[in-house]
Amino acid sequence: MLKGKTIILGVTGSIAAYKIVDLASSLKKKGADIHVIMTKNALNFITPITFETITGNKCIVDTFDRNFEFEVGHISLAKKADFFLVAPASANVIGKIASGICDDMLTTTLFAFTKTKLIAPAMNTNMYLNPILQDNLEKLKKYGYKIIEPACGNLACGDTGIGKLPPVELLEDNILKYIAYNHDFENKKILITAGPTKEAIDPVRYITNHSSGKMGYAIANKAFLRGANVTIISGDVNVKAYDGINIINVISAKDMYNEVINNYKNYDYIIMSAAVADYTPLNYSSNKIKKSDDDLKIELKRTDDILSYVGKNLNDGQKLIGFSMETENLIENSKAKLIKKNANMICANSINNKNEGFKSDTNKITLIKKDDVISLPFDTKENLANLILDEIIKL
Ligand code: CTP
Repeated sequence: MLKGKTIILGVTGSIAAYKIVDLASSLKKKGADIHVIMTKNALNFITPITFETITGNKCIVDTFDRNFEFEVGHISLAKKADFFLVAPASANVIGKIASGICDDMLTTTLFAFTKTKLIAPAMNTNMYLNPILQDNLEKLKKYGYKIIEPACGNLACGDTGIGKLPPVELLEDNILKYIAYNHDFENKKILITAGPTKEAIDPVRYITNHSSGKMGYAIANKAFLRGANVTIISGDVNVKAYDGINIINVISAKDMYNEVINNYKNYDYIIMSAAVADYTPLNYSSNKIKKSDDDLKIELKRTDDILSYVGKNLNDGQKLIGFSMETENLIENSKAKLIKKNANMICANSINNKNEGFKSDTNKITLIKKDDVISLPFDTKENLANLILDEIIKL
């Protein structure tokens, strides 16, 4: 995924410096050429040998102090690299960058670097909230630097508050977002429903289906990496969305209906991959239903069809994408759904074959448009998500 990409990781003096070892290792596994530049203060927290072992490259500490056996100048490295992350970024280094001070290898190389620069501040809460630091961050934003806000939590100094280095996964997601993908969905807002709904019978039992949410979350994650602003309205699932994606959790079909209706007008694309229950118990029993010797009949009533509602009430320019899950007449039934629900595209999948549909990591999808039927190859849901987005952007 990152083959052929060169990434510079600038590490400054913070207790969180050790976390960058995991990041370097993960990026390297994805094929990137990683160069770590440490400030002198970072040496107090971690040794360059750790990074050298992980990356296979010399870890650079200072422009003048070390006698390198290899050819590396701040200019050639700055020219070669595709991305520069400073993490953890101390208040001191942020102040230097914002003032144009270049007094070591990190600040000098960064000053000469013209592509995407990302700063991840990590420090004590009061230092982070200090207006001087905030002014410096604003100044850096003005000059095109991207800033990741620190996380909240228990800090090494014993305080609790904002200032923690965000999880390594978030740092990595941001790197992938900027260098592994085209930003064809930049400034686009996407609403995705995903996962199953649960219809309560009593406080103990409910009716649900086998949806895992994997397909919807894969589309959400890829859309995020392609620059979209993404919200998932999600049933109960065990899959993970990238940090930066907004998640609205729901339980029942009614909850999902309400959240979609309240939100969909604000989005450019509405993608409905959730497996919404078509029926819900007519009467909910607030006490647990005790068993008897007789059989039990539960009367069900229809839920509202969310896709149909949105299809009837679309704003100009909004695009609606539905899913269909069939066991027979896949194309015919899906075409009928496209027309009936006024969608722009239906992603049709079947559950008849092994490794397709619910829970599986792979799938076979046919895209049904008003005047076109596109059969996508059997593939992972991750790859299919990109292929589906390729067609969505054309709508
Ligand atoms: N859907 C919805 N609201 C419902 C039921 C379904 O928005 N109450 C949406 C799903 O998210 C999906 C599409 O409608 O995008 C089709 O779902 P599917 O279950 O395949 O079809 P149904 O319309 O429910 O028809 P049937 O069950 O008869 O196949």
